[in-house]
Amino acid sequence: MTVDTSSTPPPIDARALASAVAQLTRFKSVTCVDSVESTNALALSMLDDDAARGRSILAELQTAGRGRAGRGWISPAGSGVLMSTIVPVELSHETLPALGYWASLCAAEAVIEACSVWPTLKWPNDLMLSAIKVAGVLVEGRTIGSFTRAVIGIGINANRPAEVPEELAGNAVWLSDAAGAPIDRTALAIELLRTYDRRLDALVAKPVDVIREWSRRSAISGRTLRVQGAQGDMLHEGIARGLTDDGGLLLETKDGPVTVRLGDVCAM
Ligand code: BTN
Repeated sequence: MTVDTSSTPPPIDARALASAVAQLTRFKSVTCVDSVESTNALALSMLDDDAARGRSILAELQTAGRGRAGRGWISPAGSGVLMSTIVPVELSHETLPALGYWASLCAAEAVIEACSVWPTLKWPNDLMLSAIKVAGVLVEGRTIGSFTRAVIGIGINANRPAEVPEELAGNAVWLSDAAGAPIDRTALAIELLRTYDRRLDALVAKPVDVIREWSRRSAISGRTLRVQGAQGDMLHEGIARGLTDDGGLLLETKDGPVTVRLGDVCAM
């Protein structure tokens, strides 16, 4: 369903967002900006500042939004939830591979709760509606010794823009299409930060359980998949046998088992 976009949905309400998250324990600080090159780049520039731990940066527009594998992330002004969050704790080598899965599980849960829309999960970290991408996650960070300070960047297509950029036509869908109504982006951002707050301890305590939960909820096992590189080159083809405990995608190919750690998946 396509929602009438003749009236533009309101901007994210920075005050309402700040006051709602003030009661959280670890994700209580938010900064909203109109425009920035990339919220991830801005958050990464704050990684050395201990006072910025747990802070989230939200933007109405990114002029150089970043996607996975060196791609860009395009989201017309005011149509998405574009948010980067500095993880409040330093992560061990064992925890780091679970972070993207954790973020996509949190995003799916928040979307269900705030928008009553049920996305599916696509490897590695995408949220999908009817097999079209509605949200993506980009984890970046810096490792010092055996710990990593990380930023979780999430881009959620919330309200279908009046004009869909050519690059997105056919490749993107908006939550408002499925909801049949405009999405309250403030409520969605609040729900996402609440979900992070509620689930952070489980990530740190048992990252392998997060990876297993993602594997179960994505129902990836048994599907025949093709894994492509960033240029669309075919890397592997096989039957998915779930995720390894350290976050790799286990594929049974004609040449034997392969663990995939990078790439894009197409169902066949
Ligand atoms: C992907 O390619 O699927 C990941 C997309 C991540 C986009 C988000 S938008 C907010 C944050 N800032 C960025 O520059 N990228 C992430």
